[in-house]
Amino acid sequence: MKILIINGPNLNLLGRREPHIYGTGTMDDCLASLRKLCDVEYFQSNCEGAIIDKLHEVGFDEAYCGIVLNAGAYTHTSLAIADAIAAIEVPVVEVHISNVWSREEIRHHSMISGVCRGVIAGFGLDSYRLAVESLIHGH
Ligand code: DQA
Repeated sequence: MKILIINGPNLNLLGRREPHIYGTGTMDDCLASLRKLCDVEYFQSNCEGAIIDKLHEVGFDEAYCGIVLNAGAYTHTSLAIADAIAAIEVPVVEVHISNVWSREEIRHHSMISGVCRGVIAGFGLDSYRLAVESLIHGH
């Protein structure tokens, strides 16, 4: 079974972007350790429509047991991504590197949490591992 990790806007800069918030670890290192656990594919885009297209592409494919989605700032704004998650069959776990509830109020609301299987936030890059493990164990 495969798991797709989708990263949204600005997450291509992980390791360099605001390291006091997001750390210095890179997604490449994170993916290398996750690939020891299971078959992980990765997609990153700064474009809302590209993220939606990817959700549609994978979201009805029985080869996938889940999608791990860090929608970045689109988390807080995108009804369109929420609609895409609601439309597909493959479960989606919402992930955040930072603890969004300890940050600015605008980050406290997620448009997508209600249509996701669950939410993991605040554990740095380990948030991705926790999400992948939840899908492997079928939660
Ligand atoms: C983030 C939190 C969002 O508020 C922010 O816009 C991001 C990253 C996180 O992983 O902590 O881009 O999703």
